[in-house]
Amino acid sequence: MGAVGQTTTGGYLERYDEALARDPTSAFGLVREWMRTDWRALFAELRERRPIFVTPAFTVVTRFADVTEVLSRESVFSVRAFAPRLDAALGGPFMLGRDATAMNWRDKGLMRVMLDPRDVDGVRELAGRLADEALDAAWPDGRVEAVHSLFRHVALGVCAEYFGFPGPDAQTLSRWTRAIVTDGFANFLGDPDVQSASVQAGAEMTAYLRGRLAELRAARRAGHDLPDTVFGRLAGTTLPAGIGVDDERVVVNMAGLPLGFVESAPGAMAEAVEQLLLRPPVLARAVEAARDPDPARFDGYVWEALRFSPFFKLLPRLCEHDHVLAAGTPRATPIPAGTFVLAAPASAMFDADVVAEPDEFRLDRPGHQQLFFGHGHHACLGVHPARVVVCEVLRRLLLRPGVRLLPPPEGRVARSHGIFPDRFVLGLGPEGQE
Ligand code: HEM
Repeated sequence: MGAVGQTTTGGYLERYDEALARDPTSAFGLVREWMRTDWRALFAELRERRPIFVTPAFTVVTRFADVTEVLSRESVFSVRAFAPRLDAALGGPFMLGRDATAMNWRDKGLMRVMLDPRDVDGVRELAGRLADEALDAAWPDGRVEAVHSLFRHVALGVCAEYFGFPGPDAQTLSRWTRAIVTDGFANFLGDPDVQSASVQAGAEMTAYLRGRLAELRAARRAGHDLPDTVFGRLAGTTLPAGIGVDDERVVVNMAGLPLGFVESAPGAMAEAVEQLLLRPPVLARAVEAARDPDPARFDGYVWEALRFSPFFKLLPRLCEHDHVLAAGTPRATPIPAGTFVLAAPASAMFDADVVAEPDEFRLDRPGHQQLFFGHGHHACLGVHPARVVVCEVLRRLLLRPGVRLLPPPEGRVARSHGIFPDRFVLGLGPEGQE
């Protein structure tokens, strides 16, 4: 299967070098635009001709071995750039803004205990029920606006029922999350309005969580059983004071759950379903697999579809001290301290040195070749629930007859800030009813 949905023109490096000699700002603009619209062809050329692509503004890393090197070397390639925005919103440090610290180690360990991987069957059932409710509601219209009424609806429902974080209501939780994530990961020019909206949302969110924690603690003191949610488990756990898990740590880590989930999961669902719907023969086999009592048969289709358009195409890092990347290979490249490095999992997952026949849609890809949830020190905390939620929602969707792409613009994913999906209308049921 070729590069569905992408144009393959090539010659990017010639156009880039020419623009750089003439007008460096326009060269930077070209690369940003290609990464948005033509990323698969651009990365193919870079992997081949300039696998560590050094520009005056940033360095893009495209080969699998080098992407995993960057993501495994947290003391060289740090996430320090995320810290100011996330700290400002949450009122304290969060693991995704700290590398190799006692805080990161402790908080991630604690949250891994609370997000017990044995919960996944229940989470899958919950996501399936929420998805079916949303699809039943949309069915009479012959169409579904998938981002809000299905994908975000399920993500927010999982936050409410599994994390124990409903917010005052789903709409408010959705607004808080969007404001904080937009500033943290998409406000490249530092727009002060976006920053203050995030700080305001973070203050409201953490105040809400402090109140809810006090209620849970009071219920516990009164001898009531706490709900078996992530928040209930945290509120019911007493660690020795010296460990350093005070109430503020509980609040910040609870805030991190919707921040990790409510944009990423709908993002991954929108990308994967679009890639499946663009490939009718694959889609037909995926629909058949969706009927299998063993959901694992269907899940493989989701992950392979997502490889053709991962939600996280680039993971940014700051180079803390001079480092030779890919040392000992012909592509060894010195990376000076202070370089802004973009590791590209979306490119790594097409690197033919590691991924066999990368342009083919194959279901036999080994899990270690998949970088959807990051790699190394900051690998995703929520990977277990996230996996089953993404797959089960798409399974329930594709079990409905007649799911199809509609003509653009509504039949294409509309994104806020070019990143976060906001609208994607799909046809449902017999054709001609939408
Ligand atoms: C499909 C849904 C999801 C996707 C695609 C996803 C993807 C990722 C990726 C790529 C990273 C690495 C970021 C980096 O290295 O810069 C990451 C980290 C993280 N994710 Fe997720 N994630 C998802 C769902 C979740 C959920 C459900 C949670 C919470 C329960 C969560 C919480 C986190 C946290 C806290 C980190 C940072 C971990 C650390 O700093 O050590 N994510 N995620």
